[in-house]
Amino acid sequence: MEYPAVFLKPEVHSLAKKYVTPEVFEEHKNKKTSRGYTLLDCMQSGIQNLDSDTGLYAGDEECYTAFGNVLDNIVEDYHAPYKIADGHTPDMNPDHLNCPNPDPEGKYIRSTRIRVARNLKGYGLAPNLGKQERLDIERKVVEVLTSLTGDLAGKYYPLQGMDEATRQKLVDDHFLFKKGDRFLESAGCNKEWPEGRGIYHNDAKTFLVWINEEDQLRIISMEKGSDIGSVFRRLCKAVNEIDAKLGFQHSPGLGYITSCPTNLGTGMRASVHVKIPKAHAHPDFKAICDKYHIQPRGIHGEHSESTGEDAGVYDISNRRRLGLSEVRCVQDMYDGLMKLLEIEKS
Ligand code: ADP
Ligand code: ARG
Repeated sequence: MEYPAVFLKPEVHSLAKKYVTPEVFEEHKNKKTSRGYTLLDCMQSGIQNLDSDTGLYAGDEECYTAFGNVLDNIVEDYHAPYKIADGHTPDMNPDHLNCPNPDPEGKYIRSTRIRVARNLKGYGLAPNLGKQERLDIERKVVEVLTSLTGDLAGKYYPLQGMDEATRQKLVDDHFLFKKGDRFLESAGCNKEWPEGRGIYHNDAKTFLVWINEEDQLRIISMEKGSDIGSVFRRLCKAVNEIDAKLGFQHSPGLGYITSCPTNLGTGMRASVHVKIPKAHAHPDFKAICDKYHIQPRGIHGEHSESTGEDAGVYDISNRRRLGLSEVRCVQDMYDGLMKLLEIEKS
């Protein structure tokens, strides 16, 4: 097993490159988790995508501890100033949230969405799942979801056999994931696509669960407008009910375990689609995003641009997920959003 020579190219700036030096690689290259995953396996996405920021995915929970301090270093760098020894404390009590509707007249904000990532105990993570395991996970999760009642009651729509027009409409309307991008492809998350993948949702499409994409579950609450409290309340109720029935991979220092180190902790991304052409063009836009721990995306998901009739509309979300509570994640998004709206209006 050779150190990936492409990492020596100057254009590679990933955290994987930063912490897996040739010496570190030499020290850990022959280690394997009990599910057979190596450090080189974890690094595949960063090796095949030289523009990666993180450049590494875990194939199972054990990867986070199997290769000395490599993953700890990456986690602490991305989630700085958090230290794993500090421990991660959750808070999914919606009464603790202070986010009065930021745009009651609906002039700026189109929609609000909060998701968390979760993975079942006793299984690998997406990059290292076999076909049968993926199908088992799908069956277990669907069984629990279809037992939910009230506004969480819904149906499961497997990707396998879904007609193309239905699938495309769900993607265009921001409900369904696309086929995993080149990062997930090279991490091994797209194997045997689309088998074992699908989406559960209620009739109103305000509560949705993605099954077997980058993580085994992405639990999502979303609605039109900007009632962040309502979206968070629905999410908390759903997650607490699902959590009680399916055990999730979790550790005191890393919180909920996810395949990408950036999602550890709460696994939460709280976002709004908001029209802020002026704030976006402001010379301090990036500095404000950094200061408020928020991240801009295009409105068609990660690595997308906002063009055409969507020009000026951005997906604004919390960037931090580990070492702060779920309530604080939403609060980060809210505080940053309020600052951007202030600039937009002035
Ligand atoms: P994730 O949130 O799971 O990390 P993406 O950034 O790829 O993944 O977004 C997934 C989908 O969710 C995309 O279709 C995106 O447009 C949609 N989405 C994200 N935030 C919102 C929002 N606030 N309102 C409506 N749709 C959203
Ligand atoms: N692997 C990509 C990178 O390193 C994306 C990481 C964050 N996004 C994600 N969907 N996990 O740049």
